[in-house]
Amino acid sequence: MVMLLSLLRTATSLTQIHQIHAQTLIHGLPLQTHLIPKLIDLHSIDYARFVLDQTPSPTDFSWNSLIRAYTVHGSPQNSLFLYLKMLRSSTKPSNFTFPFVLKACSTLGSVLEGEQIHTHVLRLGFGSDLFVCNSLIDMYCKCFRLDSARNFWDDMGFRDEVSWNSIISGYVQWGQVEKARDLFEEMPMRRNVVCWTAMINGYGKEGDFVEMLSLFRQMLVSADEVQPNAATMVCLLSACSTLCNYEVGRFLSVFIDVNKIPLNTILVTALIDMYSKCGDVEKAWRIFDGVSCKNLPSWNAIITGCVQGGLLEEAIDLYRHMKAQSVKPNEITLVNVLSACAGLGALELGREVHLYLGRNGLDLNVILATALVDMYAKCGKIDDACLIFVKTSEKDVALWNAMILGLAYHGDGRDSLAVFSQMVRAGVQPNDVTFIGVLSACNHSGLVEEGRVQFSSMADKHGLSPKLEHYACMVDLLGRAGHLKEAYELVQNMLIPPDSIIWGALLSACRIHRNLELADKISETIMASQDPNIGFCILLSNIYASSGRWKDVARVRRQVKEKRIKKPSGCSWVEVDGVVHRFVVEDTTHLKSGEIYGAYEILVNHLKAEGYVANFDFIANNINGM
Ligand SMILES: *[C@@H]1O[C@H](CO)[C@@H](O)[C@H](O)[C@H]1NC(C)=O
Ligand SMILES: *[C@@H]1O[C@H](CO)[C@@H](O)[C@H](O)[C@H]1NC(C)=O
Repeated sequence: MVMLLSLLRTATSLTQIHQIHAQTLIHGLPLQTHLIPKLIDLHSIDYARFVLDQTPSPTDFSWNSLIRAYTVHGSPQNSLFLYLKMLRSSTKPSNFTFPFVLKACSTLGSVLEGEQIHTHVLRLGFGSDLFVCNSLIDMYCKCFRLDSARNFWDDMGFRDEVSWNSIISGYVQWGQVEKARDLFEEMPMRRNVVCWTAMINGYGKEGDFVEMLSLFRQMLVSADEVQPNAATMVCLLSACSTLCNYEVGRFLSVFIDVNKIPLNTILVTALIDMYSKCGDVEKAWRIFDGVSCKNLPSWNAIITGCVQGGLLEEAIDLYRHMKAQSVKPNEITLVNVLSACAGLGALELGREVHLYLGRNGLDLNVILATALVDMYAKCGKIDDACLIFVKTSEKDVALWNAMILGLAYHGDGRDSLAVFSQMVRAGVQPNDVTFIGVLSACNHSGLVEEGRVQFSSMADKHGLSPKLEHYACMVDLLGRAGHLKEAYELVQNMLIPPDSIIWGALLSACRIHRNLELADKISETIMASQDPNIGFCILLSNIYASSGRWKDVARVRRQVKEKRIKKPSGCSWVEVDGVVHRFVVEDTTHLKSGEIYGAYEILVNHLKAEGYVANFDFIANNINGM
């Protein structure tokens, strides 16, 4: 038996275990207690369960090991079944059993079972076991029974750090940051990094960036003497990504370097994500290149960054590399790749992704369906787009928008409008992207009266105020149809200052309809403006040239020289397309930037004052040098 035991200890394969198991059965040796944990170590949980079921009266250690294994390895249901079996056996659950069955309950969200286990805890006399009590609090919090958690917590005779952390995290998880903060301030013992991070995360989730940074500053200088860890930095960085706050993001990145906070894959991914969301794809790329073991989230972060930064070919290259390294793409990857295909008109790869979805049994949910509709429409395959649109039963506003825009840009204005009325009939509230589609449909198909009606219904019926893109469509539509006066009045009455696209549309209309009078008026406005655009000047001089007004041509050219008007950076028409992209890419809510900047200044100044970072000037210089 001793020999078998030492064999068991050194066994590394299931075959060896099978042999040992056979021996114990033949000789009737009671080695199950050793066999079960060994099998669990080798991840053969079903086999371990088999051994347990064959054992006449398993020890509580055997029961507990297996209950724990089920919970930890993702079968909480089995963990609960085994617990029930244990209750019926001669062995009673112990303080090692409850934490894992309770965890199984919170994973499954089964609060009823959790409450039953609570009564077992009390009946079996574990009501004052700290380990068990903390697990109960955690279970109630995770199952969103905050009141039960709090009542139990209030009645606890003795609480340790974990008890406080559990209830604070519970409030944070369900968005009750103020309650969490009250307890946080009351905490009688030293607050550890987990607790500080939970609180910081709470403000981040609320979008209260200012308070988040202020708490981070307090953390650094507090008497608790805590050092932020990777998790803390991840919370802060993801807030920067959401708000596209490059300045603070850069600061945090340098802070991580200077304070030598150990990088794990999650933190590296958060850094890549922050840099790419804030538009510094190059820096994101450099970090990504430095990662030795790239996982799916880091690939996704860089691919998303490239797509958002308009580096579509690079995104597709990355996708190919990723697949070559046998990393399996997920929904996030594929939505981004489809968006890149749409932008490049890369139909073949788009189809490949579509096939990949089918072959890998990925659920064609509304997000993927939207990306596919957008891709097919932009690649000119409007029929394929329609097919997917029709087949998707649960349509949200983004999917409707993709279809409406797709048809509009394809020139099927009336179909686009028909889909729009279906959408309204289906009770889906249109948003401003929808109206870009609707007005583009009218513009592309020259439906002037329909356009007027839809444009006014935007505000009257749907409470949406027109943006530049909507005005641009209307001005173009009216102008092309020869309603120049109406178009000019629309521009004059705009609630927001007209941009280059709108002036351009108006000028083109003047050229088409040879309306020099209006062109003169516009020319005055443009030349008087802060930065006249070279495109208009060219357009103007062409208009004058085609009517033989050479003096005016010369005047415009002279002004271009005098005012040193430069070529605009980037083609402004791309902006229209950029809007189309926006429905795939998640919208971000921006805080008032002044407010954020203020908070950031405070942070920096306080850090300086407290002398927290010894080589602070290094950071400051780096930031100033940005
Ligand atoms: C469980 O209870 C035993 C005896 O009551 C105690 O010695 C042990 O430390 C407890 N274990 C845990 C993890 O709380
Ligand atoms: C309006 O339609 C025309 C013709 O299809 C198109 O060239 C133009 O870009 C459209 N204007 C806008 C603002 O979408």
